Amino acid sequence: MKDQLSNRINSLPVSATLAMAAKARELKAEGKDIISLSLGEPDFNTPDFIKEAAIQAVNDNYSSYSPVDGYADLKDAIITKFKRDNGLDYKPSQIVVSTGAKQSIANIAMVLLNPGDEVLLPAPYWVSYSAIAILGEATPVEIPSSIDTDFKITPAQLEAAITPKTKMIFFNSPNNPSGVIYSEAEYRALAKVLEKHPNIYVLSDEIYEHINYGQKAFSFAAIESMYDRTITVNGVAKAFAMTGWRIGYIGGPEWIARACNKLQGQITSGANCIAQRATIAALEAPISKIKYMVDEFHKRRDMILDLLGKIDGFKLNIPGGAFYVFPDISAFFGKEIKGHKINCASDFSLFLLAEANIATVSGESFGSPNCIRISYAASEAQLREAVSRIEKALA
Ligand SMILES: Cc1ncc(COP(=O)(O)O)c(C=O)c1O
Repeated sequence: MKDQLSNRINSLPVSATLAMAAKARELKAEGKDIISLSLGEPDFNTPDFIKEAAIQAVNDNYSSYSPVDGYADLKDAIITKFKRDNGLDYKPSQIVVSTGAKQSIANIAMVLLNPGDEVLLPAPYWVSYSAIAILGEATPVEIPSSIDTDFKITPAQLEAAITPKTKMIFFNSPNNPSGVIYSEAEYRALAKVLEKHPNIYVLSDEIYEHINYGQKAFSFAAIESMYDRTITVNGVAKAFAMTGWRIGYIGGPEWIARACNKLQGQITSGANCIAQRATIAALEAPISKIKYMVDEFHKRRDMILDLLGKIDGFKLNIPGGAFYVFPDISAFFGKEIKGHKINCASDFSLFLLAEANIATVSGESFGSPNCIRISYAASEAQLREAVSRIEKALA
């Protein structure tokens, strides 16, 4: 029946991270002892103060449709957050709350992209960026990087990738999957290039901003020349361990916010009202309230870098944020291990699943075909066991 489906859906790739997670779940259901390091979500419970705000909202009978772009007091909390954390000034008319940052990104793509437009994706990039650009009938254009440049692109590469068709760049720092955080100077150098091309819009995805290990994340919109053409995307999923609550938001030019509001009004309406109330509690809390999670991720990052660093063939950068390591494993390409031919990152990832019962995600879908993504949002014991299994599988 595939030919009955729209070209739109037929051209859409399946999310590689969700596909691997589904495969891991399937194997677990068959009784296999799988350690899943494939998904991008904190292994913490949502903090109690946020849960209590949600319970209060239920008891206060928050049960009707909210405004499409979010409750006014949630928008106020978002405005205060943008000022406090990013030095950004937004008015309520510039804010739209959505069902996860994923919807925020999809909204932006749908309201800005036309067929034939090109979307620049500094690689590695989050898997859904290319799919969302394709849904917007645009062409994703990768700007490659490698571990040798700490997975960062240069201004010269950006300049070279721009064509008259370039409409947007999707930028993400701290980065999923590499964990890399661009410095303010690096942002400014990229902005210098964009200043020469006033018709290019920037989607700045800052969802991992609070999960950093000392280097503070910067915002594209904090550069004066970029403010009017940057849409800042953020959400509560990662920093507040609220992946399932599904709240994301944007701050951006009013005309873009208005268009997102219009689109959302025809597709989902306002985001879940209880989750919106809980998000107010999350955003109004001092950042120190979530520090225990960041500290734990920091400890695990150091541990997994230390353990993986001892395995021959694993080339590692030091991620400054997020909760992933992204080793370059191309040293294994062309080898045969335990009957598995390893010619690409997918082969290696499938080998780890088959021989070590470890679920990771191949770098191909992130635009980095030499790497695999390993999430360390798992317990210390699980991480130690996982690395020891990888070592044994490779022995
Ligand atoms: C870089 C990046 N942006 C956006 C999202 C989506 O966030 P949400 O769960 O709020 O839709 C994710 C989730 O994995 C992500 O890694």
